[in-house]
Amino acid sequence: MSTSDLTGQGVDAIDTPALVLDLDAMERNLARMQDFAKAHGVRLRPHAKMHKSAALALLQMQAGAVGVCVQKTSEAQALAASGVNNIFISNEVIAPHKLQRVAALATELHARGGRLAIAVDSLQGVQGLTHALGHAATDSLIDVFVELDVGHGRCGVASPEAAVRLARVIARHSALRFAGLQAYHGRAQHLRSVPERHAAFAAVLALVQAACAALQAAGLPAALVTGAGTGTFALEAASGVYGELQAGSYLFMDADYARNEADPAQPQFEHALFLKTQVMSVCASHAVCDAGHKSHAIDSGLPRVLGGALEYVNGGDEHGILRGCNSDAKLPAIGDVLWLIPGHCDPTVNLHDVLVGVRGGLQQGLVEQVIRVDARGALA
Ligand SMILES: Cc1ncc(COP(=O)(O)O)c(C=O)c1O
Repeated sequence: MSTSDLTGQGVDAIDTPALVLDLDAMERNLARMQDFAKAHGVRLRPHAKMHKSAALALLQMQAGAVGVCVQKTSEAQALAASGVNNIFISNEVIAPHKLQRVAALATELHARGGRLAIAVDSLQGVQGLTHALGHAATDSLIDVFVELDVGHGRCGVASPEAAVRLARVIARHSALRFAGLQAYHGRAQHLRSVPERHAAFAAVLALVQAACAALQAAGLPAALVTGAGTGTFALEAASGVYGELQAGSYLFMDADYARNEADPAQPQFEHALFLKTQVMSVCASHAVCDAGHKSHAIDSGLPRVLGGALEYVNGGDEHGILRGCNSDAKLPAIGDVLWLIPGHCDPTVNLHDVLVGVRGGLQQGLVEQVIRVDARGALA
């Protein structure tokens, strides 16, 4: 049965391997995060690079998110083509042909009553953007955030002084609006203990505060500081400095985030993303299922098997090896269905064309919706 015919069918009808979304769990995650942002007086702009789906971006915006983040120009284009009007490319774009697409998208979203934003960390980035926008561009057509490296060691200007220098250049161009600071520390999200995450965030906050003070002194106050992921967002929200949270994984959760020590200041999120797989071979020592690493990403560790009695061992592209977690564990039989919790949700979703949305649980539920991964493979 093709995935488009699945709506209304029982879970048994879903062919394997398939990425299945527990809609009830996902909606609880959605509401918990939105309620948290509201209670703390911060905006939520979830990172849509996680689900790459316009339907889910629109669901998040209906629930109260101001818009979504993406990482790539083509992701922004794919979501905009399916109705998402408020998008922040929280990343640097340099190639002139990509900046042409950014300029065209900014104009299109503006005409639709929406808005595009982008991050920069270099003079070349700002110059390329203004060149692509041309002289005729509408005033303040695009929001531009200066990215500050807050310890992640990836993109971002290295100091508050460099942030001021770049903000000055942005402020000189009428088509650009200096919107504030992009300040995201990715590695801090996955530090396992709460004290480790607090310590990492203290260093982040000191840098952000110094940059805000330097911008203020230069007469260019950061209208907004934006950042945060699923591991630290409660810290950004309580900082009094960040005005917008970019967490993404909270909506689906994954096995890697589940290894973080729970922070009592954060709402807890449930696993909503599962890989349905079937056992196709069994021997005395192990069973073999039909989900290998072509169906789930393994950069943040192997998937966990729902139920806890079995361990998943990498069996290659198309195979997963299942062993008992202890000597008493019973191996599954040929034909049995198992549910895997992917190690890392973002790159796992990017391996699939659709997410099969199930209502009523993984055992007895019905397929309610087949959700397209609109920006699958949109890497440019
Ligand atoms: C710039 C940026 N913001 C926010 C996020 C969201 O993080 P998470 O999915 O861990 O919540 C990411 C993820 O990598 C990111 O790169």
